[in-house]
Amino acid sequence: MTIDGHPYRTVWLEHDAVCLLDQHALPFAVEVLRLHTYAEVAAAIRTMRVRGAPAIGATAAFGLALAAQSAPEDNFLATVRAADQCLRATRPTAQDLFHALDRVGHAMTAATDISAARVAAVAAAQQFAEDNVAACRAIGEHGATLLRDGMTVLTHCNAGWLAMVDWGTALAPLYVAARRGLRLHVLVDETRPRCQGARLTAWELQHEGIAAEIIADNAAGHFLHTGAVDLCIVGADRVAVNGDVANKIGTYEKAVVAHENGIPFYVAAPASTFDHACPTGAAIPIEERDQDEVLAIEGLLADGTRAAVRIAPPGARARNPAFDVTPARYITGWITAQGISTIAPTIAPTIKP
Ligand code: MRU
Repeated sequence: MTIDGHPYRTVWLEHDAVCLLDQHALPFAVEVLRLHTYAEVAAAIRTMRVRGAPAIGATAAFGLALAAQSAPEDNFLATVRAADQCLRATRPTAQDLFHALDRVGHAMTAATDISAARVAAVAAAQQFAEDNVAACRAIGEHGATLLRDGMTVLTHCNAGWLAMVDWGTALAPLYVAARRGLRLHVLVDETRPRCQGARLTAWELQHEGIAAEIIADNAAGHFLHTGAVDLCIVGADRVAVNGDVANKIGTYEKAVVAHENGIPFYVAAPASTFDHACPTGAAIPIEERDQDEVLAIEGLLADGTRAAVRIAPPGARARNPAFDVTPARYITGWITAQGISTIAPTIAPTIKP
């Protein structure tokens, strides 16, 4: 990704810090957050200064590698275990989190001594990030074959650069196609309550020079029903063996309406998002976040200061599931680094992390 002429990744490791683009500051400011302890890394994931399944995974992997660098020799194992548990407890739905921590953990277990374990942890975390970039680029190439000049694509939440290490999943096909000269138009669901669509996807598309319009979440059905949308592409937080997909709350209803109106609905995800131990979507844990995310909305005041504004009456209560599950029957195809599959049960066993 390039922001104002400067190349960035969403998250990266420096010698004493995990660095990331602070998604609380976006789209109003580009700020780099430097995190020096695994506890700070865990807090950044929990509070969604970094979010999106693979970006969470890469951040956690770097956080565990950071913990391994600073863990004292006489308490190495206990310190690294505590870091692993702390990072695992941040967000329950995104499969990449567990996959990435497993990879770093296995690399350390295979090392012969503490100093080799420190080196292995960094190498495994870096490899997870590199694999994600390569997978997303491949997803972009495969997904671009679905796109034609002049198409309108609907997407939900943010599954672009900022949800990965680079490129994105749902947005990568658009980026590849646009760089080849296709003129595309994107309808961006605002994605209440945290507005990842309005804040992050719209901002990314501006930087990629792709025409986009933000729509209220409630408007998607109207546009799907009135012929305004050619194709839907979304990302995934976890894909079950039968092809069911957990993704940002609201994905399910978009998929049902797309199906009802005969509009293709694709899910784009790297191998690290597939959970081979999860038979169906019913087994995917769904995160429920603080009700204040629904009761208030954050933004920029006229004087340029950021503020949260309450939008519900005092005493009102809210429910805030962060994800829902879209059954495989509503999904036209799964775009992966290996290609596009239209048959759910066959893809999971063939896509090994
Ligand atoms: O709560 P978030 O912002 O982390 O949720 C992100 C999403 O639901 C994305 O669509 C998903 O991670 C796919 S992008 C890899």
